Amino acid sequence: VVTGIDASAGMLEQARQHLGADADVRVADLADPLPFPDAAFDDVVASLVLHYLRDWGPTLAELRRVLVPGGRLIVSVEHPFANFLGQRLAGDPTNYFEVRNRIEEWTMGGRTARLSFWDRPLHAMTDAFTAAGFRIGVISEPPALPAARDLIPEVLGESTDNRFLCFLFFVLHAD
Ligand SMILES: C[S@@+](CC[C@H](N)C(=O)[O-])C[C@H]1O[C@@H](n2cnc3c(N)ncnc32)[C@H](O)[C@@H]1O
Repeated sequence: VVTGIDASAGMLEQARQHLGADADVRVADLADPLPFPDAAFDDVVASLVLHYLRDWGPTLAELRRVLVPGGRLIVSVEHPFANFLGQRLAGDPTNYFEVRNRIEEWTMGGRTARLSFWDRPLHAMTDAFTAAGFRIGVISEPPALPAARDLIPEVLGESTDNRFLCFLFFVLHAD
């Protein structure tokens, strides 16, 4: 039994197309209090979203609140080294140890969108998790699925083990 949230009604429409019209998906902003009671969920999956938020403290406190004791928060984020290394290689003197705003323009399907990311060092992530009351169970850099090589040969073509510096995964426990 799954409930999904996103700030974008368009993304939720995509989810509905995959899950069916009766899927419980709702517009909600992770920067705001969540529209759920305490201890409502066994697990929370925050997939590639926290790096859009400047301040993780209030969001993690809310995710902790809606989890049952013993529940898990499973997080994927952009790897904190990946963008930093890319910026440095491009000659940008960005400071890894700051929480910093990165603006990108992406053009897809003939439309251009402005994306605002908040990059932070690894220790700022782990500190935020523990400050919110989570115990860190796993920090993982898993390889891509074998089939990904056909989808993104330009990224995985050189890799012998299907690994590339892109995402970082955490399993956090709400003890
Ligand atoms: C890279 S996509 C990931 C989508 C999906 N979670 C997945 O893993 O396939 C980032 C998503 O974060 C959502 N998002 C960004 N800021 C948000 C916020 N403050 N509250 C809720 N959703 C947000 C965007 O609308 C977008 O759908």
